[in-house]
Amino acid sequence: MDFSTEIKDLFLKNRRYKGKFQYTVPSPSAYPYQWLWDSCFHAIVLSYFNLTDAKKEILSLVSNQFEDGMIPHIIYWRNLTHSKFLKINWGKKGTSTITQPPMIAYAVWQIFEKDGDKDFLEGVYFHLYNYYLYLLKKRDPNMDHLLGIINPDESGEDNSPRFDEPLGLSPNQTLEENIKRRLQLVKQNIECNFDLSFCMKNFFWVKDVPFNSIMIENLDILAKIAKKLNHPTDASFFKNEADKISWAMRRLMLEDGIFWSIYGDDNKKIKVKTWSIFSPLFAKILTPKEASKLVQNNLCVDVKFWAKYPLPTVSLEESSFDPNDFWRGPAWMASNWFVYKGLRNYGFDKEAEKIKKSSQNMLQISGFRERFNPLNGEGLGAKNFTWGGLVLDMV
Ligand code: GLC
Repeated sequence: MDFSTEIKDLFLKNRRYKGKFQYTVPSPSAYPYQWLWDSCFHAIVLSYFNLTDAKKEILSLVSNQFEDGMIPHIIYWRNLTHSKFLKINWGKKGTSTITQPPMIAYAVWQIFEKDGDKDFLEGVYFHLYNYYLYLLKKRDPNMDHLLGIINPDESGEDNSPRFDEPLGLSPNQTLEENIKRRLQLVKQNIECNFDLSFCMKNFFWVKDVPFNSIMIENLDILAKIAKKLNHPTDASFFKNEADKISWAMRRLMLEDGIFWSIYGDDNKKIKVKTWSIFSPLFAKILTPKEASKLVQNNLCVDVKFWAKYPLPTVSLEESSFDPNDFWRGPAWMASNWFVYKGLRNYGFDKEAEKIKKSSQNMLQISGFRERFNPLNGEGLGAKNFTWGGLVLDMV
C-alpha cells in the first residue's frame, strides 16, 4: 500500500504561511496551529518529498524559542476566534508555556542525512543546544538525571491513564473531569510564574518513560550533530548526559523487566501498562534479552497489546482501557511509529511489520484520522490528520 500521493496532498492542504514562516497544521479544523512534536513528525515526513519544506517546518518551530531555551508546544501564529484552544490561558500571548517530547534533534538529523546541508545544521544548532540544555538544567530539580513534566500535555498524551494517580483522578474519570484538572494545573503554573521546581514539587511532577526515552535518543543525535559541526566538547557532554539518563531510568524505573513512569519527590512507580513500556526500545536501553522478554510477555499477547489493529495505547487488561477515548486505548500513528522503530532496533522485524501493516490498514479503512479503535480499526477524532504520514517512515 503506497499512500505517498495522499500524504503529499494532505501536507500541502495543511500547510500554512505567516510572513517568512511556513508550517503544517495537524488538522485544519481541530488543530489549526503549530505543535511541537507534530512538527517534528511533519519534518520527517516532508523530508521524503521536499527537503526545503522539511527545513522550513523546523525553522518555524524554533523561531518562538523562549529566552531560557524552552520551545513551546503550541505556536498560535494566527488569531482564530472559533477555536476551542484559544480558551486556554497559558499565561502568554502567541504560544503556550509548556513543552512537548523533545523530538527536534531527531527530525533535524533525518533531514541532514538526506542532503548533508551543514548550513542548515549550523543554523539550528544554537536553538537545539539551548533547548536540550534547558531540559537538562530546569527539569531535574533533584538531580536524579531524569526529566520531569509539569503537565500531562507535555507528554503529548494528554489524558493517558499514566497520569491518573498523580492527578488524583480515578481510572474511570470522564474526559471533562480530566480536562478540568489539567486546566487547574495550568492555572497553578501561571500563578507561580512557572517556577518549575516549585511546580514540580507542589503540583505535578512525572518522570515519564517516553519523554526520557525520547530525550536519550535525541541527545545521542545531538552529540552526533555537535561532532559534525566540530564541537567535540558539546558532543561528549550530550552523550554523557544521555548515558546518565539511561542509568537513572534503569535505577529508578525498571522493575521486573518493565520501565514504569515515576512521580513525585519519592519517585513512586505508576504501574499502569500503556504503550510507554515499549518506548525504551526506541532509545535502545534494553539488553536484547530484556527486549525479547518484553515483546513476548507484553506486546505479542492478544489480551494485552496484540489487538486486531495494534497498537492500543493502553493494555486491554487495564481497567482504564477504552477503545475510543483519546489516549486511553485507541491506536495513534505516533506511538505506532515509535514502537515500530524500537522493534526494528532489536531486529523484531516480523512484529514491526505487523504494526506497519496495521497502520496502513487503519488508513485504508478509515482515512487520515487522529486515532483509531484498535478492536475494529474505526477512525476517531480529528479528520485530515497528518500523523498518518508517518507510515512513509516505517522503513
Ligand atoms: C492532541 C494530542 C497531542 C498533539 C495535539 C496536536 O492534543 O494529544 O499529542 O500534539 O493534539 O495534534
